[in-house]
Amino acid sequence: MNHNPWASNVKFENGELTVAGMSAKELAAEYGTPSFILDEDDFKMRASAFTNAMKSSFDSSIVYYASKAFICKQIVRWVHELGMGIDVATGGELEVALSMEFPAHRIQVHGNNKSLAEIDRAVGAGVGNIVIDSLQEIPRVAEAAKKYGKTQSVMIRLNPGVEAHTLEAIATAHTDVKFGLSIASGVAWDAVKEIAKYRELDFRGVHAHIGSQIFNMDGHRLTIERMLDFMARYRDEFDRELPDVDFGGGFGIVYTAEDAPLAIDDAIAQIKDAVVEGCAARNLKIPHVAIEPGRSIVGPTMFTLYEVGTTKVVNLEGGGNRNYISVDGGMSDNIRPGLYGAVYEAHLANRTSNALPVASRLVGKHCETGDILIRDIDLPSDIAPGDLLAIPATGAYNRSMASNYNHVPRPPVIAVRNGAAKAIVRRESYEDLLRLDLL
Ligand code: LLP
Repeated sequence: MNHNPWASNVKFENGELTVAGMSAKELAAEYGTPSFILDEDDFKMRASAFTNAMKSSFDSSIVYYASKAFICKQIVRWVHELGMGIDVATGGELEVALSMEFPAHRIQVHGNNKSLAEIDRAVGAGVGNIVIDSLQEIPRVAEAAKKYGKTQSVMIRLNPGVEAHTLEAIATAHTDVKFGLSIASGVAWDAVKEIAKYRELDFRGVHAHIGSQIFNMDGHRLTIERMLDFMARYRDEFDRELPDVDFGGGFGIVYTAEDAPLAIDDAIAQIKDAVVEGCAARNLKIPHVAIEPGRSIVGPTMFTLYEVGTTKVVNLEGGGNRNYISVDGGMSDNIRPGLYGAVYEAHLANRTSNALPVASRLVGKHCETGDILIRDIDLPSDIAPGDLLAIPATGAYNRSMASNYNHVPRPPVIAVRNGAAKAIVRRESYEDLLRLDLL
């Protein structure tokens, strides 16, 4: 089992963290803190692990990188070079992909409330599939397709009614959620019939995404069964087999030593078994299979590098002390502990310490008690201002969910490879923040 939360080229040498040949100290000196540090080869390795596993499992497949986890122009370029597709959930994510001339037919568009402008832009740009997530959306997409004189490929996002075993806020396919069209209630089938009314729409298949940070494939297997049932019903009633199926993302990663995700190959092997057996049982052809991993590609590739600014020993009511260690970022660059109760580890990155580990709380610089990065962690008692701390596995949903709370500029993303670093997203400046103010 893999319990390592770090990118593959991170090492600790004499207590000092290095990534792909650059030390935390060098990176902090050159780019400042806080910064997201990305291991470029690790990103490519994880992305390729998915594409290779899918290629060896299915005759026809595609891996869409779920851009919500983290997107910027450089990521779009790498994803393109790796021959993948991109999944976008908003017009903004779509614009980043289009700004790099990413092949539009390999962009898949999601969203439970796509605006008319987003639909127009997507159809006009010639995106691949638009994944329908409401009945109202069907005529809207058809209208846009008509305007451009195109036939638009669409899928339906199904809600298979499956409980994924993950945090409630990031599970997406039990019954009482905003996503997808429920198979059980019949609304998904209503969508099929509705789509069939429009010549401008080419119904390609079904999609489901049951949640995120999932550690076993039971939910996926059940979902696949229900999706294949749906596809078999379609074949029986429409006398045509749906060519596409998409199982979403959700593959878990290591944040702390407690986490034990499946290896990518094992997860895909389980999907393959479920699809092959399920299709055989229903006499369906194996469709073109898509997945949409985000976190499991970019999550482990980055860590956040902070500098300690202040420390404080607080006496606890029940006896004992807690060392409050404040770093120069916080909830604005990592909202996940506050929002989801997500748990992280932190490591001293600039030196060794022989001091005893003591009960500590890692906090940010924001004006808010809940600005906690790590609630309970044992860290060396001699951690002092100027020390560097690194939190691993912050590549997914950290920079992408970063805010400017307290007018704190968002950190840069620094890619490191072969002993050289480059900023792929620069640090925000106060000027950037003031640019939108109109007086
Ligand atoms: N496909 C669809 C349709 C999705 O909704 C998502 C994630 C993904 C793919 C990618 O899932 P992944 O492979 O990254 O698990 N902000 C939360 C996670 C929200 C995920 C939303 N949808 C977090 O920080 O944990």
